[in-house]
Amino acid sequence: MTQEPTDPFAAPVDVLPTKDGYDRWAEVYDGDDNPLVALEEPWVDRLLGDVRGLSVADIGCGTGRHAVRLAAAGAAVQALDFSEGMLARARDKAGELNIVFHVHDLAEPLPFPDEIFDRVLCGLVIDHIADLGGLFREMHRVCRPPGFVVISVMHPAMMLRGVQARFKDPASGREIRPASVPNQLSDYIMAAAKAGFAFDHLSEQSVDEALANRLERARKYLGWPMLFLMRLARGGQGASLPAVNNPSKAVPSASR
Ligand SMILES: C[S@@+](CC[C@H](N)C(=O)[O-])C[C@H]1O[C@@H](n2cnc3c(N)ncnc32)[C@H](O)[C@@H]1O
Repeated sequence: MTQEPTDPFAAPVDVLPTKDGYDRWAEVYDGDDNPLVALEEPWVDRLLGDVRGLSVADIGCGTGRHAVRLAAAGAAVQALDFSEGMLARARDKAGELNIVFHVHDLAEPLPFPDEIFDRVLCGLVIDHIADLGGLFREMHRVCRPPGFVVISVMHPAMMLRGVQARFKDPASGREIRPASVPNQLSDYIMAAAKAGFAFDHLSEQSVDEALANRLERARKYLGWPMLFLMRLARGGQGASLPAVNNPSKAVPSASR
């Protein structure tokens, strides 16, 4: 589907089915200098803590950005995605690391028995998921108490700026959007609560000066909420999870 922009000087936008869009994005995803990715990565590491010796699921692993780092840090990783294009990139990078890849559509139940993961990560995926209840129930099912789940997602406030997951196709110069779902913060929070999780960390992160200095593309979003994070405890054990600095007082992107 093509959306013709209302601004006659703006580039045209092609909205593709999510999987097809990511198959196309795979070629350039890792070289994209994406401000959201730059903001997200240190937060995911902070929220996951030490993963050495742990069993970790990377749900919607894409090109393996997180899976490869987690396996290099000593985790045994199971990584899933429905985009063969993204998975091919991830497999190339994984080498001998302890990662098992699965082609899997998250609209289906996860292909794992109950309670086999110490950590479950779902990074920058759930803005593409219509049945949030189903996916959160599945992540709860496969997470072993006292484990926890870490979720990152583009902040829905970005939709107010007309931004959804997107990239510029180098071949055509056109903007391509793998289809997204207009989920709100309340949708994410209610899906997690109904799945039975205890909330250990919720935060909303904005672009700061340090990130804007590092990535010029980020500057126009200075101070705007770009990232939503959740750490969800499988038991009622939130207090025993790794400590995280108060996100409103400490913004980690400056330290990357
Ligand atoms: C923005 S990328 C994030 C990839 C990776 N987690 C990261 O943070 O770099 C979103 C990923 O979610 C995957 N995805 C979206 N909907 C999916 C679904 N229904 N089933 C499986 N994967 C899905 C896409 O194929 C894509 O690889």
